Amino acid sequence: MTEQGGSAAEIEAHNPFLGNRLGIADAPPVASASIGDGVVRVEFADGRHREFHHQWLRHCCYCEVCGNPADGIRFATVISFDGDITPTAAHASDGDLQVTWPDGHVSTYGPDWLRHHAYDDDDRDRRAGWRPRLWRSELASDFPTVEWSDASDGSAGTMRAYSMLRDFGIVRVSGLGTEPEQTERLAALVGPIHETTVYGRIYDVRAEPVAKLGAKTGMPQAPHIDDAFYYSQPGIDVFHCLINTEEGGMSTYVDGFAIAASIEADEPDAYDALTTLPVAHIRRHPNEIDLRNRGPLISLDEFGRPAGIRYFDRALAPLDVSAGDVDRLYSAIRAYNQRMVSPEFTATIRVAAGDGMLIDNHRVMHGRTAFDPSLGRHIRLCHVPRDEFHGRLRELSRTFDPENHDQHLPQGSQAAG
Ligand SMILES: [Fe+2]
Ligand SMILES: [Zn+2]
Repeated sequence: MTEQGGSAAEIEAHNPFLGNRLGIADAPPVASASIGDGVVRVEFADGRHREFHHQWLRHCCYCEVCGNPADGIRFATVISFDGDITPTAAHASDGDLQVTWPDGHVSTYGPDWLRHHAYDDDDRDRRAGWRPRLWRSELASDFPTVEWSDASDGSAGTMRAYSMLRDFGIVRVSGLGTEPEQTERLAALVGPIHETTVYGRIYDVRAEPVAKLGAKTGMPQAPHIDDAFYYSQPGIDVFHCLINTEEGGMSTYVDGFAIAASIEADEPDAYDALTTLPVAHIRRHPNEIDLRNRGPLISLDEFGRPAGIRYFDRALAPLDVSAGDVDRLYSAIRAYNQRMVSPEFTATIRVAAGDGMLIDNHRVMHGRTAFDPSLGRHIRLCHVPRDEFHGRLRELSRTFDPENHDQHLPQGSQAAG
């Protein structure tokens, strides 16, 4: 063991070198290749063909000299070659594409790697093919749920829990138990805990005589995005129910993407305002911290689809947009807020003691109904960044769903530029 943390052999054992290959079986082999004007044209054994720009192929060589896909590190960068570089040869070799460059360098691309990275419209549509499973109140009767013993198996059960969290934006993990230590174990399923000034590392939601946050009273909490006033709001909400009441204290959940779809369909002008004009959120703890964020209530991705929701009605700052947009933005926010508190969009369930809940805090809002604070309801809460969850999901997908391991997932709500 060297001081850097591992010998070359150890590093290599940990990061097996794959070159331009994914290890996906059954990929149709490369049948032939030819050099065209600015592109290499590749024909696959199933009859499909794809074209790749010369410099794109040169840039993407992951031979041991040029880069390493095991960890994504690239040694040859875009300034390592000229934009007009042209191969001297390109042909099929044992089902791979082999390309020779003017300096004699030879690049080899496996057919699975080529098909997964090709950039025809079809390929790009496939990578952009993931869609959220939108839901409304009906989710309560068939709530996405995985037993803790399955969710924590590091295998197919974990994949099922991850998939539900990805597709519905929420999953209940039942049978977690009521030992406080289980909160951290549930968090560790999706990633390391992200500590904040407002919540600390793990936050105990219990009614208190002098409550600093509304959460610590018995009052109802309208559905909201946690900490929408941070530039990067918390990613995955990790809830762990230790004690719940028999009356009141119901949990309410609302799918922000379902609201976005409803507004887009019924009120296009409101949708335009919510996706282009910034709203601001603030939270101040005097003499401690003054948090502020500006960004659209609904962030869109490059394809114009919702990537993240940011709305916490009680932390909304005074609007700060041009005078001509004030009334328009207020009505748009109202269109969102009215849906957010409507029974039609709200899935209401009683979370049992010993259950955990993982929630995508960039999509799904959570709240609760009122309860009697003397009854001792106790929920523990912490947060894990979404990158960590999506990163683990993609890695596990390479085993359980390799064809779709590279699909784009929503990158969350964005701060104003
Ligand atoms: Fe909350
Ligand atoms: Zn190379």
